[in-house]
Amino acid sequence: MSARGLFVVLEGPEGSGKSTLAAPLAERMRARGADPVVVREPGGTRAGEIARRAVLDPEHPVGALAELFFYLAARAELVEKVVAPALQQGRVVVSDRFTLSTEAYQMAGRGTSEDVVLPANRAAAGGLRPHLTLILDLPPEVGRARQLAAGKQLDRLEAESVDFHRRVIEYYLAARGEGVRHLDGRLPPDRLLQRAWEEIVAVAPERFGQAGG
Ligand SMILES: Nc1ncnc2c1ncn2[C@@H]1O[C@H](COP(=O)(O)OP(=O)(O)O)[C@@H](O)[C@H]1O
Ligand SMILES: [Mg+2]
Repeated sequence: MSARGLFVVLEGPEGSGKSTLAAPLAERMRARGADPVVVREPGGTRAGEIARRAVLDPEHPVGALAELFFYLAARAELVEKVVAPALQQGRVVVSDRFTLSTEAYQMAGRGTSEDVVLPANRAAAGGLRPHLTLILDLPPEVGRARQLAAGKQLDRLEAESVDFHRRVIEYYLAARGEGVRHLDGRLPPDRLLQRAWEEIVAVAPERFGQAGG
């Protein structure tokens, strides 16, 4: 577990609202006196941004194994340089994606063996486990429709087949574990924020006080 700080991860398929939720969530934390570090994966470090470009570029597709290790390289770097030091200082870290994304996309989506993915995933996370993982559940058509409506240019993974995304979404729907909570991604943003906040207060009552507000 992560010493002292609070580690919150937002998970879910494309278009489920992770990035949209991260900003007001951090805002609410600030209003309660916290100074959260907000990161996204892959990215957040120089090497992580290079990995992000390598892996998401639709013009130069990388193979399944290279894809896995680019994501893990980005994570290892982010954990070592940003997440672990912040938690050591007792800060709150909010990450847009973490280890569950690797399980959903590279293991369930790509079909890379769990014998390869799970131990490598643990190693890249440096032993860190989120205190809370909020999964935004969403049917596949909804996420795609939102991205199209927003006129988003799809990256290499977003542009994957319908079957690929179905496997990813099914993996997310079935995910269970310590600190894993499912939220309905179809809720309007303010309701989703409220639900997410309730889960955060429940996991860190000493930091964020009573629910509500
Ligand atoms: N709760 C929500 N209800 C309806 N639309 C949403 C909601 N959250 C996000 N959106 C819209 O859906 C699209 C994808 O949201 P985004 O936060 O980028 O998803 P993600 O980061 O999970 O891929 C954006 O156009 C965003 O405005
Ligand atoms: Mg996003």
